Amino acid sequence: MGREESSNFSTFFLFSLLSFLFITETQARKLQQVVCSSSCGDIKNISYPFRLKSDPAGCGDPDYELSCQSNKTILEFHSGKYYVEKISYSEQIIRVVDVNLAGGSCGLPYKSLSRDVNDIRYSRQVDTRMKTASFVNCSRNISDTGYRKVPCLSGDQSFVYVISGGDAISLLPEPCFFISMVPILDAGVDYPSYETIRNLLKSGFDLGWSVLCRDCFAAGNMCFSSANSKPYCYDNGSNFIVALIQLIFTSLVTFLLAMGLISRFIVIPIVLIVFLIHKYRTTRKTVDNVEKFLYKQQSWMPKRYSYIEIIAITNHFRDKLGQGGFGSVYKGQLSDGSSIAVKVLENSSFSGEEFINEVSTIGRIHHANVVRLLGFCSEGSKRSLVYEYMPNGSLDRHIFSKKGTGESFSWEKLHEIALGTARGIEYLHNGCDMCILHFDIKPHNILLDCNFIPKVADFGLAKFYPKERDFVSVSALRGTIGYIAPELISRNFGAVSCKSDVYSFGMLLLEMAGGRRNSYAKATRSSKAYFPSWVYDKITNGEDLELPDVSEIEVVIARKLCIVGLWCIQVEATHRPSITKVVEMLEGSIDDLQMPPKPFFSSSPQHKSIREIQSDSSTELLESESFEECSYSHQSSYI
Ligand SMILES: *[C@@H]1O[C@H](CO)[C@@H](O)[C@H](O)[C@H]1NC(C)=O
Ligand SMILES: *[C@@H]1O[C@H](CO)[C@@H](O)[C@H](O)[C@H]1NC(C)=O
Ligand SMILES: *[C@@H]1O[C@H](CO)[C@@H](O)[C@H](O)[C@H]1NC(C)=O
Ligand SMILES: *[C@@H]1O[C@H](CO)[C@@H](O)[C@H](O)[C@H]1NC(C)=O
Repeated sequence: MGREESSNFSTFFLFSLLSFLFITETQARKLQQVVCSSSCGDIKNISYPFRLKSDPAGCGDPDYELSCQSNKTILEFHSGKYYVEKISYSEQIIRVVDVNLAGGSCGLPYKSLSRDVNDIRYSRQVDTRMKTASFVNCSRNISDTGYRKVPCLSGDQSFVYVISGGDAISLLPEPCFFISMVPILDAGVDYPSYETIRNLLKSGFDLGWSVLCRDCFAAGNMCFSSANSKPYCYDNGSNFIVALIQLIFTSLVTFLLAMGLISRFIVIPIVLIVFLIHKYRTTRKTVDNVEKFLYKQQSWMPKRYSYIEIIAITNHFRDKLGQGGFGSVYKGQLSDGSSIAVKVLENSSFSGEEFINEVSTIGRIHHANVVRLLGFCSEGSKRSLVYEYMPNGSLDRHIFSKKGTGESFSWEKLHEIALGTARGIEYLHNGCDMCILHFDIKPHNILLDCNFIPKVADFGLAKFYPKERDFVSVSALRGTIGYIAPELISRNFGAVSCKSDVYSFGMLLLEMAGGRRNSYAKATRSSKAYFPSWVYDKITNGEDLELPDVSEIEVVIARKLCIVGLWCIQVEATHRPSITKVVEMLEGSIDDLQMPPKPFFSSSPQHKSIREIQSDSSTELLESESFEECSYSHQSSYI
């Protein structure tokens, strides 16, 4: 009796607490609505979470601010401007039209926007059938079913077309370039007429807003929302099913409390056991599903971009920065205005899952002297990597420059750059949980930021091309020959290891000190033809390095760079210092440095000199078998 009474009492207490909370919240909402509803033109009663700029502080949510100009309500979004046509508070949808496309006006969008709106405030998916209208500018008449001419923008010389489709157009005919795109509603036909597209552009598109999802994303959690269901926020650590079980669990507890039944002592343990078994199973299960993997790792993963977004970011690959062995690099701009570099990979032999695993490895690498991977794109065979943009380009532009084309550095600055680069490589070798061999250290892969801080680029990419032939031909193509360690060329020189990168770094140091490529073709006749051997003789004979106009301190720095460089390019990998030791040598005093043994065996009869091997035709490279060994030890170093 006593037990039942107390149980009834707790039920009553719970209910009154719940209803109290419920009532106060709805009252508060009502209060907010009454106080803060304003209108602008056709949009009446603008209320929570939306607010007008002119509303008193405290109304609505600052994230959902609208402005009112000449009786038109305007949403400013991703630096575009959109007229608000309608707000549905029950469906949580706001319909907007680009200001340049509203009314009957014929023009280009004010701002390009892709269909996958990338914004936590408007993340809710409204209609999966949404399409995009892309505007392109062509220098000749195109007769293609999908291409609809925009009469008011076309002339005799240039033809502007609008194309409606679910995807961005990835292959434009030759004389065309992409201008911008904007989401539109579905026309219901494959190739809508120009009039239809015009009307769709005029009527705008829907954005789904959800305050709950916004708060959920802001707290670092995942929000689940679709066109027909209410948004649901769940914790990053647990997955959706666990969240569902927790939900059932809590509602069962409330239900049983309300019933006031003893049976709860039986059901709860059962539910608990089911819950624990499930939890055990899910933790034991290997993470095989890429999407799940991505959700879990979201906090450190580079951002995943769709191919459409890559097209929008790079303005349809308009600004090419360079061409490397792995693909072309384009400059791009994110919606927040920051610049980035997009590397479009060609012919990667990896599957999507392997690619994403690899990218997540590279994405975890954060160091002041290593280029940061910000994002990636993997859609079918389309693979791209998004990096931070380095305004001062690569080191070769500066150290090999004839006067005028690049900055020429003081010896102090060269030393700083050498040390920074060594620290970057050291981090790749030792700093993270797995050793990352670069295999392609050379001035082109050392990028300089706005303060001329060096950053190692292109690491980890060798892994995407594990086949021996590819690797060699790629390197040969990129003119990397002068930097390859001898053991990468022929197995006679030993196994491939971290010391191979040290070799390449040594060549780089000597080039920085020499201010030119080590084997400079035009100087073949002079005694300086091969800089490392020339500098070795000079230093061992105690002669000066023939540097014009330099101070005492600078001579010391130059000698130091040369000695460290000569240590690194020893033919025997075991004679080379580790990169950690190299950092110490560069930081330390020149008095602690000893002269290395002569790094080449030009007089030794049983071997060719490295130079000869390196200037040999590439046939020997392709025949070499050492690459099996290379990719083997390379792979094992990741474990
Ligand atoms: C706006 O609110 C007022 C009262 O606050 C109400 O009378 C009016 O019908 C509302 N208008 C719309 C379009 O909901
Ligand atoms: C806005 O509308 C109000 C009444 O609806 C009108 O009095 C006013 O002149 C309009 N303002 C502009 C700039 O059109
Ligand atoms: C299209 O390109 C031509 C030539 O590049 C240019 O003159 C014209 O202004 C462009 N049209 C638009 C609408 O951008
Ligand atoms: C472009 O092609 C269409 C039909 O394909 C034709 O009617 C039109 O006159 C052509 N315009 C120009 C400027 O050549």
